[in-house]
Amino acid sequence: MISECQMHIASFGQTPEGEAIQLFTLEIPGVIKASIMTLGATLTELHVPDRFGKMDDVVLGFDSLEGYLQDAYQQEYCYLGATIGRVAGRTNGNRFEVKGRLYQLPENQGEVHLHGGVSGWDRKLWVGKAFQAENEIGVDFSLFSPNGEEGYPGNVNVSVRYAVNLEGELKISYEATTDHATIINPTNHSYFNLSGDHSETIFDHELTISAEHYLPIDGSCFPLEELKNVSGSPFDFRKSRKIGVALAENHLQLKNGNGIDHAFKLNTSNPEIILYHPKSGRRMTCITTAPAVQVYTSNHFKGTYPGKSNIYYKQHAAICLETQGFPNAANRPDFPTIRLNPNETFESQTIFKFTIQ
Ligand code: BGC
Repeated sequence: MISECQMHIASFGQTPEGEAIQLFTLEIPGVIKASIMTLGATLTELHVPDRFGKMDDVVLGFDSLEGYLQDAYQQEYCYLGATIGRVAGRTNGNRFEVKGRLYQLPENQGEVHLHGGVSGWDRKLWVGKAFQAENEIGVDFSLFSPNGEEGYPGNVNVSVRYAVNLEGELKISYEATTDHATIINPTNHSYFNLSGDHSETIFDHELTISAEHYLPIDGSCFPLEELKNVSGSPFDFRKSRKIGVALAENHLQLKNGNGIDHAFKLNTSNPEIILYHPKSGRRMTCITTAPAVQVYTSNHFKGTYPGKSNIYYKQHAAICLETQGFPNAANRPDFPTIRLNPNETFESQTIFKFTIQ
């Protein structure tokens, strides 16, 4: 067990229905401190040092439960820090087939079934259980998702483990089983701004993604058929590039997404994503077992409600690196499958590692 580590479990308030929400805080002083609440198994805070050792919170969110429960936020479906499921992103036509049966999914964002629907895993009350192991401390969150929930077949048992360690890593691991063939594609929807100043944009952050292809989208952000080579496009992050420079390019795909809102096909032998903030020296390396990452440059913040420290989040205030299977994989036999059958266990892991450069 790590001797310096500290674990706190506290009340984070109650929902209007009277459900008690817990907040787990995992801390390795001076290295990393993460808080996760049972509502949506949501990462609410993540503090890491800058090059002078100053700890700052590098994820967007709210200071209290009321922020997460307010109508304006709930209606926007922004998912600050939440666990997304059953299926991340968009499924074309809001429908898919399993074993010859067609399933139609309910709409929650306009006409789109997004990120698991009206009441996806981000809105569920998970059960959290803290653990301490030799090299890490963490919390196991579990949830039962019944057959038919948000239109998906199968009774699903899912768990999400958050763990931190002395290496400055936050590890998020997913496991799921089902009693009937279904589809599963979870992710975490944290909005990162490594400056720690959430009133700033992420234009000065540098991004590297080991991806040669990305998946173009139509004007409603539904993925198109063909993967495109990143070469010569704003989506070429094979060498580190300033996000502001990429976003300033004149490209139809940036117009369709209102910024970057695209899946990248990760290089299977080196599935690495690096986000670097030169001013603070904070560098986040994201390593994943997932085949893709949905990069979203928070294109839709409208500044309609205050976030942490009363800051109204503006467009491009943060970046989400949603490691996952491809969007619309349910309808794409050519993409790695997101199908989960009885007697199989879905497993996926993503590590966000914080260092100084
Ligand atoms: C999606 C966006 C969506 C955002 C917030 C992202 O993962 O790709 O299209 O607006 O989540 O809901």
